[in-house]
Parts: sequence; C-alpha cells; structure tokens
Amino acid sequence: MKLSIPGRVAATAVVASVSLLAGGSIAGAAPAPESAVAAAPDIPVANVKAHLTQLQSIATANGGNRAHGRAGYKASLDFVKARLDAAGFTTTVQTFTASGRTGYNLIADWPGGDPNQVLMAGSHLDGVTSGPGINDNGSGSAAVLETALAVSRANLQPTKHLRFAWWGAEELGLVGSRHYVNNQSSANRAKIKGYLNFDMIGSPNAGYFVYDDDPAIEKTFKDYFTGIGVATEIETEGDGRSDHAPFKSAGVPVGGLFTGASRAKTAAQAAKWGGTARQAFDRCYHSSCDTTSNINDTALNRNSDALAYAVWELSS
Ligand code: TRP
Ligand code: ZN
Repeated sequence: MKLSIPGRVAATAVVASVSLLAGGSIAGAAPAPESAVAAAPDIPVANVKAHLTQLQSIATANGGNRAHGRAGYKASLDFVKARLDAAGFTTTVQTFTASGRTGYNLIADWPGGDPNQVLMAGSHLDGVTSGPGINDNGSGSAAVLETALAVSRANLQPTKHLRFAWWGAEELGLVGSRHYVNNQSSANRAKIKGYLNFDMIGSPNAGYFVYDDDPAIEKTFKDYFTGIGVATEIETEGDGRSDHAPFKSAGVPVGGLFTGASRAKTAAQAAKWGGTARQAFDRCYHSSCDTTSNINDTALNRNSDALAYAVWELSS
C-alpha cells in the first residue's frame, strides 16, 4: 500500500534541479544524477498475503505444520524457490542435519553488485509442529520473498550485492542460520556488510519494534517509520532469539523488525499503537491458531514497506 517518504523525493528533486542549472542544458535533457538513489517501491501487501495463503495451504496439505524435518517445510522451500527462480535469482539450497532429520536453507543471489560488499536479508521459513506458522514466520518469509520479487521487477542494480535467505530449523535453536554462518570462509563472512532479520512482522495485536543493534541499520528502519508517522520501540522480547544472532556473533552488523510474540502489550503501547492492552502481541504464538487469520494487515504492510526501504537504502 502507498505510504510516501517525503524526504527522499524532496532530496532527489533538489539534486535534479541543481544539475540542470549547472549543466545549462536543454530542459529535459539532463541525465538523472548519479548520486540519486531510486526510491524504494511500495510493496503490495496483497502480494505478501497471497504468499501467506500459499504457506497456509502447504501446511494444511501436510499435517497442519511446516516444521523442520516434515513435508510441509520442504514444500514451503520449493514454493519460495520456484518464485525466485522465475524472477531471475540464482538460488542455492544448503542442507544440514538437525535432530536426525535433513534441514534446508534457501539462498537467493541477485546477479550483480560488488561481490566484496554483500547486503543480506533473511527470515526463518520453518514453523513449530503445533501449527501452520503464518505469523511465526510466514510473515517475515513472505515479506522477504515479495521484496526480492520487487528487486527483480525494478531490475535494481545496487552498488552492493544483494542476497536473500530463508532459514531452516530456527525453531530448533537457530540451526540453519548458524550452519550458514559457520560454513562461510572468514573471507566471505567479512564481505557481508549487513544482515537484516524479519521474524514475526504481522502480529495481530502488533507493536512496532526495531532491533537495537547496528546503529546505521537501526536508523534506516526508524527513518522509515518516522516518515509514515508510526512510533517505534526498541525490541526487548528476546535479543538473540532469532537468526540475526549467529551473524552478530560473527561480527556482521545486524538489524531487524518485530511485532511481538507472547509478551503482553502495555496500556501505554495500546495508547500509541492501538490494539488491546494486557493482551499478548500474538496470542497464537507457537499454537495451532497461527493461521492466516492471525495476521494484522496494517502491521504486515508497514513492515514489508520498511523492509524494502532498508534493502534499497542500504544496498545503494
Ligand atoms: N522465532 C522466535 C522464537 O520462536 C520469535 C521471537 C521471540 C523473536 N522473541 C523474539 C524474534 C525477539 C525476534 C526478536 O523464539
Ligand atoms: Zn517461533
């Protein structure tokens, strides 16, 4: 949905008019200024929700879950991979073993950019066995997928190399993301200039939480929310409880977004964000009711747009 960022548009317009004056060229003939960053697109929340409908169907057809080592996980991965392959990404499936079962990470590289400066964005694609895992973490997985598809639609050619990831076995203790980080050479790890994590971004009684980590990444997310007039708070419900933790341990700058899990929303938070005080951000956390009904569309929309904004800004 459309939520404009006045700052970026205004800055670009100023640069363009200055270059027209400096060049003294015929109006309309001046090339776009090289320093201008293409504005991040509005991510259609309907597309993100369509991905969630697919993940829900996959769970329903596979015993009601998309957990590590179960058929619903691999079907989820195959669905995301097919969409990325069709959009021109170079995809890689990395396998590992956890609790005696094969796990899978999906990595999607967007061709181009500086191979020595990599920006990553990722989410865990597995759920727990007790439910379909639509907010945790279909929400992050669908928003990262739609952002990757938006990169393809825009034929974005950023300065940095872009890499998207969907992790397996997060719910078993960050197994997939840790496997990925540990299997990089230290030279390749050093090329990763940032990792953005999206785990639970559509909680029904949503809060707007930004990880208090790398300052530049944190500022980028906060700038987005300031631009749309939405207050944020620092994420405190469990630092290190998601896939950014292995990256952070390896020295990679990290950040991310979160709309809350089992903790209760305070009266002050309900006053500024709406929703219900003294009720969990997500009453269906790790439960059978974490279905497509367990999504706050406004939160999913805002966080998807913030994700794309950060990818565009931080890769330019
Ligand atoms: N996937 C995480 C989990 O199951 C969800 C979570 C809880 C989380 N607290 C968090 C994610 C804080 C990010 C930040 O534990
Ligand atoms: Zn979880």
